[in-house]
Amino acid sequence: MSDATAQTIYLEDYKPFGWIIDDVHLTFRLHPTATRVISRIRFRPDYDVHHRPFFLHGEGLKHISIKVDGHEVEPTHVDGGIEVDVPEAPFNWEAEVEINPEANTALEGLYMSNGMYCTQCEAEGFRKITWYPDRPDVMAQFTVRIESTASHTPVMLSNGNGLYTSTDQTQKDTPSVTIYQDPWPKPAYLFALVAGDLIAHEDKFTTMSGKEVNLAIWVRPGDEDKCAFGMEALKKSMTWDEEVYGREYDLDEFNIVAVDDFNMGAMENKGLNVFNSSCVLASPETSTDANFERIEAIIAHEYFHNWTGNRITCRDWFQLCLKEGLTVYRDQQFTADMRSEPVARIANVLALRGRQFPEDQGPLSHPVRPESFQEINNFYTATVYEKGAEVIGMLRTLVGADEYSKALDLYFDRHDGDAATIEDWLQVFEDSTGRDLTQFKRWYSQPGTPRVTVREDYADDTFTLHLSQSTAPTPGQDDKAPQVIPVNVGLLNPNGDEVMPTQTLELTETEQSFAFPGHATRPVPSILRGFSAPVILDHDIDNARRAFLLAHDTDPFNRWESGRMLARGSLMNSIATGAAPDLAYLNGLGAVLRDDTLDPAYRALMLGQPSQTELAGLLHDTGDTPDPEAIHIASEALRDAKAAALADVLPDLYQANQVKGAFSPEAGPAGQRALANAALSLLSRSDAGKQAAAQYQQADNMTQQLAALSCLLDAGQGAAQLASFQVQWAHDRLVMDKWFSLQIIHANPQDAATTTARLTEHKDFDMKNPNRFRAVMGALSMHHAGFHYRDGAAYALLADWLIRLDPLNPQTTARMCSAFQTWKRYDPARQEKITTQLDRILSQPNLSRDTTEMVSRIRD
Ligand code: PHE
Ligand code: ZN
Repeated sequence: MSDATAQTIYLEDYKPFGWIIDDVHLTFRLHPTATRVISRIRFRPDYDVHHRPFFLHGEGLKHISIKVDGHEVEPTHVDGGIEVDVPEAPFNWEAEVEINPEANTALEGLYMSNGMYCTQCEAEGFRKITWYPDRPDVMAQFTVRIESTASHTPVMLSNGNGLYTSTDQTQKDTPSVTIYQDPWPKPAYLFALVAGDLIAHEDKFTTMSGKEVNLAIWVRPGDEDKCAFGMEALKKSMTWDEEVYGREYDLDEFNIVAVDDFNMGAMENKGLNVFNSSCVLASPETSTDANFERIEAIIAHEYFHNWTGNRITCRDWFQLCLKEGLTVYRDQQFTADMRSEPVARIANVLALRGRQFPEDQGPLSHPVRPESFQEINNFYTATVYEKGAEVIGMLRTLVGADEYSKALDLYFDRHDGDAATIEDWLQVFEDSTGRDLTQFKRWYSQPGTPRVTVREDYADDTFTLHLSQSTAPTPGQDDKAPQVIPVNVGLLNPNGDEVMPTQTLELTETEQSFAFPGHATRPVPSILRGFSAPVILDHDIDNARRAFLLAHDTDPFNRWESGRMLARGSLMNSIATGAAPDLAYLNGLGAVLRDDTLDPAYRALMLGQPSQTELAGLLHDTGDTPDPEAIHIASEALRDAKAAALADVLPDLYQANQVKGAFSPEAGPAGQRALANAALSLLSRSDAGKQAAAQYQQADNMTQQLAALSCLLDAGQGAAQLASFQVQWAHDRLVMDKWFSLQIIHANPQDAATTTARLTEHKDFDMKNPNRFRAVMGALSMHHAGFHYRDGAAYALLADWLIRLDPLNPQTTARMCSAFQTWKRYDPARQEKITTQLDRILSQPNLSRDTTEMVSRIRD
């Protein structure tokens, strides 16, 4: 085990670097296996802070030479870098190193992807490029010179503005030079370099002050017809940030590059965003509506980082949520504005409950601002991102939209150019609004999902809500202090009319009562409207009340939530007693689906039901041991019951929501397709896939094609279509990822592991490509009944592949270990099977720091 040597880093140990960098000049002599990097850096002591010894990070660098003020020096190699004797005065640093991009399978630092040079530096990848203080609080201006030939790398890009290029495409083999300069001081994690055979999809944008910006999306030849949608999303994002946050773009050019091998979704490098090709390339034939929506959100997210992340960055990695929580919040606002607000909110809550709640309630639970880590890559989590965004949303709810805007103006004003902290962020809000945020700050330091319990009272025309809060202990933190929880509440009368519009109750105590006088009849409360806080709401109400709210709630989120709770109750009942699905739910659902005044996208969400993973979590929560097979059976039974109960409305829904004319990924037609396809999936349960086969035959876009194929596979059909799909899309990696996933997602529980194992033998299964690895292993780990099938084959298979991938790509391996995070929910036999695999992973010699940390935390 290598954890004996793993070092834990603590927030409280923060110390500034001790030197200031005036500017950085980098020269890259590109070579696939032996790239030379020459750095020229001017350092001066930061006399206010202790600054000895002079330490620079560096990992896997071949030392060629180091000169201080022109004199060759020998560095002392220490853990993670070098120490060098330097003068007690400003000095010039010049170092040359050699690195091997082709051998870099970790995809961190400078690496090659399909013959193209590419970098990924967040969080600590720059140290794999050259010696440097690789920490976000060291900001400097960068000038980058790239040397190559036009035949080797026709296009070369870096951050900032292109200053000069000698690349002459007619002189393929003579040396060529490109120089980029970034006028904005930045930390090293925002550095980027890309070089290769790339084609641009270009456009222009004029900012609100009249500055013209050249926009380009760079892709490999063949992908140029998949850039138009991303470009539109970029321009919309630029306009939105001007209009809503008053933020303008600040360089002459903005470049986006698509790369096939990438560990994450995308990266906000200054002026040169690098995207996983799955998060930018889009066309109607190859991308689903869900892909389009996700691409739009990620383009916005990375663009918004230019202000929240780049202009104002993080002092240290513990402050990661300062940029990520805020930027996710901003991209969620953007999506709500571009599409439907309630639909976007429901989607965000589904993601939060699906990914963040299990994390917050299991062994990996950590605060939105962690206080220690071994490997920072393990903290790019749903908690930091999604719960971090919820915390911003709560702050906005508490201070109000106008005060929020004013505070943000002050934040940009006060901290532009800074590497800031959560304390700085909250201070801005305190100064701007006059509010004391001491208690609110607990959202950043207390992990765990608070549970809010509701009791109602009605007497003398006064309706009273008694709210209480508690949070279960989390690893390393047993005692939880009460948090500030904004609970949005509205009241309806028994006819379904709203008698009190939404109000924000501030729950700050362990127990608190809120009285609403003047109600001659007992009102019906709608609580936690819009999911105003990331909590579990415990409100013991009967099905009749839920059905009433499903029919009448004026808050669209809570209306959906009432349906969800009915579905949940019905499923829990079936799991426990084998009872048939609940009629109140099926009838209420039917009424909502027939209501043509409701947005199709919203109705499509209504047709959904809690996932099997969510049900397992609920059972665990109530002290039961989830049985994956029973959960699977109950979930299928509910679908069958819906198909039967809605038999009269489904064909109409399907027909009425067929979109005619040219494909558009806009919210309107996408919502219609979502509803039609949700109907199709239920229809296919009784027509043996007939309608789905017809749709597959006619489909001229991926949304329709994939939905039809899914229905066929669910109906135990589709072998011929699966084969023709493979032939049709063999040339397209991103579509082939879907082909791999699909077969696992729709496998029977007992076949999921063998199907997965068979697919790993396929010639196109390439473990080095994170998208392909996730398409296969991620699909298996998300197939609840398949992953937890009683023979334990899936546990062993996933562990085998994690062990194989770890030496090549620790970051992706470690992230996928979270599939095991819920192991304590299950029965002793499954627990034993999982811990055997976890221990087997941990016992591998030379296991990465990333995976060691993750598995140790999960195992605890
Ligand atoms: N900072 C990126 C984002 O949130 C995510 C990322 C982290 C990408 C680390 C690569 C590596 O957009
Ligand atoms: Zn981000």
